[in-house]
Amino acid sequence: MSTIDKTVIDVRPKRQATAKNIAAMKGTTPIVCLTAYITPMAARLDKHCDLLLVGDSVGMVLYGMDSTLGVDLDMMIRHGRAVCRGAKQALVVIDLPFGTYEESKEQAFRNAARALSETGAGAVKLEGGIEMAETVRFLSTRGIPVLGHVGLMPQSVHVHGGYAARGRSVDEWQPIIDDAIAIAEAGAIAVVLEGVAEPLGRKVTESVSCPVIGIGASSGCDGQILVTEDMLGLFAINPKFVKRFAEIGHDIEAAIEDYANEVRERSFPAEEHTYKMRGANS
Ligand code: KIV
Repeated sequence: MSTIDKTVIDVRPKRQATAKNIAAMKGTTPIVCLTAYITPMAARLDKHCDLLLVGDSVGMVLYGMDSTLGVDLDMMIRHGRAVCRGAKQALVVIDLPFGTYEESKEQAFRNAARALSETGAGAVKLEGGIEMAETVRFLSTRGIPVLGHVGLMPQSVHVHGGYAARGRSVDEWQPIIDDAIAIAEAGAIAVVLEGVAEPLGRKVTESVSCPVIGIGASSGCDGQILVTEDMLGLFAINPKFVKRFAEIGHDIEAAIEDYANEVRERSFPAEEHTYKMRGANS
């Protein structure tokens, strides 16, 4: 006798944004982006965002590292897979960690291909300006959409000696503008512009053909990105450019305090949280 499998499998294709959709948003509606590292958060952010970045900030935010330099590709792939499971419509982008793409365009291709094929994400991000343009072109023309990242580049913290904003005097502007133009002309789908003075944010946005996604780069950009844990008040470091849209950290502490008190005074677990023997009333 045959048994009928009644499991319903949802085979409808995901209506996921593509790199091309994001690139086409320049000058239209502002592009909404946030970071995500885990499935439940990705699922919550997905319907509100155009792009979810699996940022190498995961090292600092989830693993307590003091910079992003200790993050490796396996970590990014693990979190990338988790985010792809939760995202149905936003474009998922995987950050290439420090040391996985700078050596040569071939090294970059090898690692970017792993990041896409092992996660299901739709693009990678890498930091760098003129010096990375050849790599961006190499990847873009071989099936790997690239999101650039210029201005303040956290992976270069040791060269710059910190995370101070860039372009606060006009003589610092041109190299950053040139970096953004080089990455855009090399075929990047968009460029993240981090930590620059407001007029430079506008100037870069006007100077390049692809969307500019700002983080601490003013409302003059084509879109915005924040680290989700920063804007939810879950991460202690609070740079000037972060607006806290919630104070989840405080809420968590209050909940944990309640839990600890109730365990200590034996009011949790209560009747309704307790299994009864079969056949017992209620
Ligand atoms: O790693 C990250 O989260 C980032 C964003 C801050 C843009 O690169």
